[in-house]
Amino acid sequence: MDNKPKRKRVLITGCSSGFGLLTAVEAAKADYDCIATMRNIAKADYLRSALEQANVTATIDRLDVTDTEAVRTIAAKYAHVDILVNNAGILIMGSAMNITEDEMRKIFETNYFGAVALTRAVAEQMIETGAGLIINVASLAGIIGHPFNSVYAASKHALIGFSRSIRLELKPFNINVVSVEPGYHKTEIIRANANLSDNFYDSQSPMFEYNRGFLKLMLDEIVPRAADAVAVAKKIVEIIEVEKPKPHYIIGKDARLLTIARWLGLTSFIEKMMYKYLIKSTRRENKRAQAKKEARKKS
Ligand SMILES: NC(=O)c1ccc[n+]([C@@H]2O[C@H](COP(=O)([O-])OP(=O)(O)OC[C@H]3O[C@@H](n4cnc5c(N)ncnc54)[C@H](OP(=O)(O)O)[C@@H]3O)[C@@H](O)[C@H]2O)c1
Repeated sequence: MDNKPKRKRVLITGCSSGFGLLTAVEAAKADYDCIATMRNIAKADYLRSALEQANVTATIDRLDVTDTEAVRTIAAKYAHVDILVNNAGILIMGSAMNITEDEMRKIFETNYFGAVALTRAVAEQMIETGAGLIINVASLAGIIGHPFNSVYAASKHALIGFSRSIRLELKPFNINVVSVEPGYHKTEIIRANANLSDNFYDSQSPMFEYNRGFLKLMLDEIVPRAADAVAVAKKIVEIIEVEKPKPHYIIGKDARLLTIARWLGLTSFIEKMMYKYLIKSTRRENKRAQAKKEARKKS
């Protein structure tokens, strides 16, 4: 008879890149039965080669978290899941004055409703077994405001609110709910997956030059300073391993610094600094655009 204890099953969403991919590898390395899902299986080769390099295996399956039928199907297929990591997320940048309603809904469908749907489907089984852990990957943007990413920030605030609330609802069933709140880390969401709103460059909009200034600020100051994404994956697996995880984990120097400043009542100061950098970048971009225009006129 095989007396080996059954490996715990971890189901992760959004594993084609970034935190999801890295967490799948770290979980497989820690000997979990890892179900790594992604909406586009054509991208699975990145994960396959990362797993191969680490000399570990995981089950790769398709899941678009906005597809409610697929969410139910995957939850049934892999019942019982011990640990769920709601990681899938999208970003569409642009002022709240420009972003389209369709774009707003898309953000919420993935970042909030997708995570909620899968949580509900998987928690049903967890309630039956009387154990489980749900980790929701929120963001620093769920703690403090992020101008020009207001809808993304709202979706992450919503996800944190959801996590904090269901923590107590699921407590009687021995299910733990944890919110992970990382600052900026080098993944595709701030590179190839950093979408701009369709109206981002609408030159008729009063927000046009501020959108442009914000983007330049992101590209020049924020993206290059983003931290290594492996730290987040390692932290998620660390959370899985501890007996009593904390309600939430703030990850990254930037996130820790800003949340401490907020706890100290320095919100106005944070806003002042953010505004100062934004205006500086906007003015610089305006000057650059003006110089380009004049050079074109001369030639
Ligand atoms: N990187 C950061 O600085 C940072 C900071 C705080 C929080 N976060 C959060 O961390 C999570 C992971 O993002 P990341 O930073 O690792 O960025 P990423 O590399 O862009 O990964 C995002 C993942 O989500 C997937 N995804 C998007 N829409 C989906 C859907 N409808 N169904 C299933 N999967 C979907 C993407 O798949 P495709 O490849 O098909 O697009 C990709 O696999 C997100 O929730 C993000 O908001 C990131």
